[in-house]
Amino acid sequence: MKASLTRQKLTAKYSFDHPSALRVPKVLNTFTGIKTVFSDPSRFKVIYEKYGYGSIMMFDNIAQCVETFSSSLFSLSLTTALLRHNSDKEYVLHALFPEKDSLNQYAAWFASSVKAKIQEKSWKYTNVPGNYVDIVKDVVNIVSVHVAADKLTGISLKTKENPSGMYTENEFFDMLSTLVSTLIFVTFLTFDEPETSFALHEAAMQAGTIIGALTAKSVMEVAPSTSPNFLAKVAAGTASLFWPPNGKPSYPFLSKLAATGRPLDQLLGNILGVAVGASVNYSQAAVNVIDFYLDDARVNERAHIVQLISKGDAASNTLLRGYVCEAMRLKPQFPGLWREAVVDAHIPQGQGLPDLEIKAGDRIWGSFRNAHINPSDFPDPTTVNPNRPLASYNLNGAGFHNCPGTTYAQQTIAEIVKAVFSLKNVRRAPGDAGKLNGFTEIIHETETDFYVQRNGTVSPWPGSLHLVYDD
Ligand code: HEM
Repeated sequence: MKASLTRQKLTAKYSFDHPSALRVPKVLNTFTGIKTVFSDPSRFKVIYEKYGYGSIMMFDNIAQCVETFSSSLFSLSLTTALLRHNSDKEYVLHALFPEKDSLNQYAAWFASSVKAKIQEKSWKYTNVPGNYVDIVKDVVNIVSVHVAADKLTGISLKTKENPSGMYTENEFFDMLSTLVSTLIFVTFLTFDEPETSFALHEAAMQAGTIIGALTAKSVMEVAPSTSPNFLAKVAAGTASLFWPPNGKPSYPFLSKLAATGRPLDQLLGNILGVAVGASVNYSQAAVNVIDFYLDDARVNERAHIVQLISKGDAASNTLLRGYVCEAMRLKPQFPGLWREAVVDAHIPQGQGLPDLEIKAGDRIWGSFRNAHINPSDFPDPTTVNPNRPLASYNLNGAGFHNCPGTTYAQQTIAEIVKAVFSLKNVRRAPGDAGKLNGFTEIIHETETDFYVQRNGTVSPWPGSLHLVYDD
């Protein structure tokens, strides 16, 4: 088998180690425990797989750093990795949010883009009252994927206004979801299911190669000096003379990144990391919030949200953000996150629980979903209370790798909520079309959502959801 695969140059795709039983993961259900682990990358490392340079999220893996920096000094390698993580995060954040007003600008862009998309994509059935819209596949996914395409990667999408674009909006969204599925789900849910991981890897390699190459083209157009060789430099320089890139929406972000002088592979790793967070993860979080407040059980909260939208003052906006956080807490985008212990440890869990005993090599599942309904941190946990302190939430991770898009997500999802719930009498479409179809399984003690797609397949990403509203 090995000889045959070697002849075909396919060995890199396989492992020849004898399969061994995985240890049972250790589960943390409190933020006391989760924060202890997630704030200490020297003892608890990420287990994401790194392709090429990787992105910010991959930097704390000591084993990897020992390889990369070929140092036998453990502490030196770790320090280098931490510095790299922090300096990368700083320059990416600066490029994303260069001004004090950047967040407001993103929020305003979302407000107008979502309204426009709803209008453009709504339809009527003959002799049936109301306007219908698929809020997932025609609105939220689409607006979010334009952030990744137009503002971050500079990849041109095929639309009515731009028929010569490379991919349709939904095609590009699917490519990005394939990338995240591998990063997140192979590692998060199916790291112990090699039969699933193989197919996902293959698909992600294809999607990643294409998105990486197209993004590289955008970066080189903005900064020909990043081109890896002389001929490419000349070609990129000439192209940018004829088609100056500074009018493109991606120019501000890419030119700030290129100004750091980092090599192309480093920039690409970080651009792709941000692009998937800002599109696929983001969109799912926003869809869950909408779906949550459309439920009959939330009729009072919905009425209050509609009232707050019509008021539109600062206090109402703060409460609206509180409603967004509550939906993200109770119907979260991700159920939990993995870490692996590098050393033996005792992890305090708080709330009178015994310390969790960990051995080096143990996998630790931080159940963020369970921790968000822990009554010690969230009194009366299943009640929606938009007045809970913002600091009590850990909706986009915690500690060292805490997501830099947290505030952006809450503020812009609030704009989506405004656009959707200000539609007259907005409600679910009748029948299955008006449901976000799916089911929940308990995995590692944690409710985990799966969604049924229009073609009947199951996916970690939401399928269609049709809404109806009156004229
Ligand atoms: C609601 C939407 C989002 C959710 C639920 C989300 C979730 C997460 C989570 C859970 C992590 C930490 C993973 C870990 O510790 O293992 C993370 C990290 C990250 N996210 Fe997000 N994210 C969202 C939006 C965004 C946006 C909008 C951006 C960019 C604008 C972004 C960029 C990143 C980056 C770069 C990291 C790595 C940070 C680091 O390693 O220090 N995410 N995100």
